[in-house]
Amino acid sequence: MIAHHLLLCATPTHNLCCPKDPAVGLASWERLKLLVRQLGLETPGRPGGIVLRTKADCLRICRDGPLLLIWPEGIVYGGVTPERIERIVTEHVVGGQPIEAWIVQRQPFEGLQAQA
Ligand code: FES
Repeated sequence: MIAHHLLLCATPTHNLCCPKDPAVGLASWERLKLLVRQLGLETPGRPGGIVLRTKADCLRICRDGPLLLIWPEGIVYGGVTPERIERIVTEHVVGGQPIEAWIVQRQPFEGLQAQA
């Protein structure tokens, strides 16, 4: 079972999200990979489901980046940094408490809203 899918728009080749400092996006991606591994979030059979992570070229939002989109909630965090990644993963992904102050957009699936 999959609990969350995290998509980070932060590539140095396509950096509309973070043109001022593409290195922040890349550093955020490295921190995300490390954290997911250290916390055992991608371990098969993890209670509550595993966490997938993907580095995306563009999430078609293109502002306030680097951006982190978290499914199934459809929550988009902006201004992502390695430090923010750490709090987002521990408080939102593991703890279930989104960090409202950093959310720049919500785009849940219609079908999921109807089921809730
Ligand atoms: S370049 Fe990041 S959402 Fe488009």
